[in-house]
Amino acid sequence: MLNKKVEKILNEQVEKEGYSSTLYLAMASWAETKGMAGVAGWLYAQSDEEREHMLKIVRYINERGGKAVVPAFKKPEQDFGEVKKMFEEVLKHEQFITASINSIVAVCIDEKDYTTHNWIQWFVTEQIEEEANATQILDKLKLMGNGNLYVFDRDIKSLRDE
Ligand code: FEO
Repeated sequence: MLNKKVEKILNEQVEKEGYSSTLYLAMASWAETKGMAGVAGWLYAQSDEEREHMLKIVRYINERGGKAVVPAFKKPEQDFGEVKKMFEEVLKHEQFITASINSIVAVCIDEKDYTTHNWIQWFVTEQIEEEANATQILDKLKLMGNGNLYVFDRDIKSLRDE
């Protein structure tokens, strides 16, 4: 059986990953209505990835004899103001997710659940990439200054293929 404290914190992470998916979906939709197809595409794909993260945890909890809880997600904002501000929010959100993954690692160690500790390492590594991706986009936006958003929107398409 999955340790109860580990099960609880994993279920909290199910909610956080699911909310991430919802948040990025709202951002994607906003960007799309602003004519930024490239930014929208990046965010739609990111939203799908977050759903995958959520599913990974749901399946792990159940596989280990726990019970995954599918939660309600709070409604995200619908207007993100401007692109740079929005990506700053993406980075802040990913830093929050990294901190919560680290809390899971800490609970696994406290509870001596070395199986989950080993399994959660995938997320530890994933968070390095998630923060790096958001930082890379913000760096590009800083370089651009008040430059052409059209070019940025076109170039962001290639970032997922690099
Ligand atoms: Fe699933 Fe972007 O953290």
